[in-house]
Amino acid sequence: MSLFTQLKSYQALQAHFSKVENVHMRDLFAADQQRFNRLSTNACGIELDYSKNRITDETLQLLFDLAREAGVEEKRDDMFSAKKVNTSENRAVLHTALRNIANIPVMLNGQDVMPEVNAVLKKMQLFVEQVHNGTRQGYTGKSFTDVLAIGIGGSFLGPKIITEALKPYQNSAVKVHFVANVDGSHIHDVLAKLHVETTLVVMSSKSFGTQETVKNTETAKEWFLSNGAEFTDIKNHFICVSSNIAAATEFGIAQDNIFPIWDWVGGRYSLWSAIGLPIALALGFDNFKALLSGANEMDVHFRTAPLAENIPVILGLLGIWYINFFDAQSQAILPYDHYLRGFPAYVQQLDMESNGKMATPNGDCLDYATGPVIWGAEGCNGQHAFHQLIHQGSVLIPADFILPLNSQHEMSNHHAMLASNCFGQTQALMQGKSLAQVKTELDELGLTEEEINRIAPQKVFEGNKPSNTLLFDKMTPHSLGSLIALYEHKVFVQGIIWGINSFDQWGVELGKVLGIDILAKLEDSSLALDSDASTNALIARFRNRKNTEVDFVEKIAV
Ligand code: F6P
Repeated sequence: MSLFTQLKSYQALQAHFSKVENVHMRDLFAADQQRFNRLSTNACGIELDYSKNRITDETLQLLFDLAREAGVEEKRDDMFSAKKVNTSENRAVLHTALRNIANIPVMLNGQDVMPEVNAVLKKMQLFVEQVHNGTRQGYTGKSFTDVLAIGIGGSFLGPKIITEALKPYQNSAVKVHFVANVDGSHIHDVLAKLHVETTLVVMSSKSFGTQETVKNTETAKEWFLSNGAEFTDIKNHFICVSSNIAAATEFGIAQDNIFPIWDWVGGRYSLWSAIGLPIALALGFDNFKALLSGANEMDVHFRTAPLAENIPVILGLLGIWYINFFDAQSQAILPYDHYLRGFPAYVQQLDMESNGKMATPNGDCLDYATGPVIWGAEGCNGQHAFHQLIHQGSVLIPADFILPLNSQHEMSNHHAMLASNCFGQTQALMQGKSLAQVKTELDELGLTEEEINRIAPQKVFEGNKPSNTLLFDKMTPHSLGSLIALYEHKVFVQGIIWGINSFDQWGVELGKVLGIDILAKLEDSSLALDSDASTNALIARFRNRKNTEVDFVEKIAV
């Protein structure tokens, strides 16, 4: 397969780009009353308005040619049909099987994975029901009131943001608390709110080797044992989700308390597996299933819709258009929904860990841009913080605006105000405000010509800043499942076009390995400082710090 920039369709897009790069969206809208009708689409209850992009019909046709020539459709089918598309780890990529609610067989190495998937779902359902109805109890016979969910990265972000986004659906039986960071302040603050007799600990780590998660679980265990519980009580309180059954057993987790996942589930794609257990505990199993069914609906759409109507494909191609032709280096994700405030961080891991790569599976080094920096925050807050730069800064930042049409809490006209801000931003980004308009306004205010000439350029909005708007009826488990799956597939489409493997993450390894060596040096002053001058100096500085550590477990004793 040729590299992206060697494709015929890439060359055609480049020639086209030189013709349209300066076309203003203002003019495109003025010339075409049907622009919205043509450049908006709907699937799985999500309406995508992509009319506010710097594209013409020809741009779109060329982008769809690119998708075809890069083999998006074939590679999509390879993924769904369990081909080992994660080539560097020789693994299939089957998070879609986890939400395959129609139970269509998915054959991997001659075996259907669905019976195993269903068995784990059944185990999760039973477990959640027992915790909620109080038949599963702590070591003193009390029902669980709290769940301490420990994990990091993909074993944390999905469960955390979904639980937060679906707050109105939370079950009243238990409250779920998340701990990710190895910074002791995080677990300190959470444990301070909990009681050993009524706390269930769910440790989520696909590898069971992630330092932060193992350390936090050890600390939780110390807290548990130093506040009245015995070692034999661990079996009532500690649950683990992992693919490393041996390590979990060695840690002391009872066999029956281990929820397995498989090597064909990538960390950042794992919330649909038993890694989603904290979600099911927080929201109830039926809501977890609704989340899966929403994602499944998007899978069916991605798999079957023609490219020109395929929302993940459209979003992926628009991203490529800005990154590889307009040199955009970042993508803003702006949910206009307070409960969805964690979504930018979720997409950040999903996208940046998947597509932050510069080599192909064949070992070719790329000389073109790949994954962008993903960032964002909830609207309207960002408008009063960083939108200035999106409107008037010197870099182009495409933005996705996400808005549920109905609020979880209809209070006075709050939601109309929120929506007006969302739509107002995309309008301003698109149309801007010309120098002539600004000058007229300043003139009407009675400013002198000298003042007008000085102030006017500062008030000009160039406009022509691209955005997508994604609307859906209401934030429900089903709609959130579809939304997340949409971004997963968008990232996949881009990875295919760039010719990279979106499913490994070798780039996180080096820092982890060096960190282990540094930890040894921080804890043992007799070890020689044999690294570079900066790292040696930082270690020495830490060794000489004023040690204010107090006995952690004693401090958080209940
Ligand atoms: O450090 C990155 C990473 O490997 C992610 O891909 C993963 O989601 C996270 O760490 C946690 O990994 P685990 O579930 O194995 O603890």
